[in-house]
Amino acid sequence: MRPPLTDSFDRHIESVRVSITDRCNFRCKYCMPAEGLPWLQRTEVLSFEEIERLATILASMGVSHVRLTGGEPLVRRDVPDLIERLVKVPGLKDLALTTNGVALRTLAGPLVDAGLRRINVSLDSLDHSRFAEITRRDMLDRVLEGLEEAERYPELRPIKVNCVAMRGFTEPEVIAFAELARRKPYTVRFIEFMPLDADRTWRKEDVLTGAEIRAMIETVYPLVRVPAAASSTAERWAFADGTGEMGFINPVSEPFCSSCDRIRITAEGSLRTCLFSMEETDLRTPLRSGATDLEIEMLIRQAVQAKRMKHQIGEAGFVRSARSMSQIGG
Ligand code: 5AD
Ligand code: SF4
Repeated sequence: MRPPLTDSFDRHIESVRVSITDRCNFRCKYCMPAEGLPWLQRTEVLSFEEIERLATILASMGVSHVRLTGGEPLVRRDVPDLIERLVKVPGLKDLALTTNGVALRTLAGPLVDAGLRRINVSLDSLDHSRFAEITRRDMLDRVLEGLEEAERYPELRPIKVNCVAMRGFTEPEVIAFAELARRKPYTVRFIEFMPLDADRTWRKEDVLTGAEIRAMIETVYPLVRVPAAASSTAERWAFADGTGEMGFINPVSEPFCSSCDRIRITAEGSLRTCLFSMEETDLRTPLRSGATDLEIEMLIRQAVQAKRMKHQIGEAGFVRSARSMSQIGG
């Protein structure tokens, strides 16, 4: 085991989110433009071998949690093969996937067979026309079928459903989402809208905070706080009658940067130490030009040393990254 990966604020990095493609079959308004985002070329995207090698180097430094994201990770071919490789990486304790759910109808089984045990599915509306409005695709039924399919595998737990909360859009469905969490074995989590939309329409006023949503739920269903892991980004709340659980991810109203334990790798193999970083470290070039594991480890350590203390969303002087969420990896 190598020394742990720490930054200059003594945060230990234990988690990496790996984007495996920048492509997506949705065009969610809070993420992508309606059209015209150029895709990476195939050769620009890290291969499964390269991802496995990076995961192995990271795991040797204690980065034991890996989450695969995109874009939409399941538009890439053969993702179960990647899962199979990653579950064998020494030191990797936890492997999860974030998806929009469209492909789960056919892929949930193969993913579980390959060793996947945790999944997050994005779902922003339970109403067909509102779903189509936000994702710009009429695929609610497919996503719900995908969730049903995921439910059939008891090994695949928890199933988390993530809903991006936006003022002026999400309010009418808050109770319906709470009821989904009560009716189904899903932890439903609201995520505050962050300035990562390619259309750049984000305004602070558009953020519907977790506290506001929780207050709405509590007028109907009382909640009790559940302790969460220190590095967890989500507040956990259970229904007081014991039926189901909700989560609130409040990066804008209650930043959790001081306990952040994560880094990100983009689809083209650049290391980002924050969603809102202005800098990236290219790991693909060294990976493809014969660098040793130790040389790559040193590049990663150097980048992590420069990890900023916090994001400054909503503060004067906040500068947006040129990348949208789909280009970074959610
Ligand atoms: N703000 C908050 N969450 C976002 N996501 C994508 N864009 C944004 C944004 N601007 C979420 C998706 C998905 C995860 C990958 O990131 O809904 O759950
Ligand atoms: Fe695709 Fe996810 Fe972005 Fe929606 S949020 S457009 S599903 S990458």
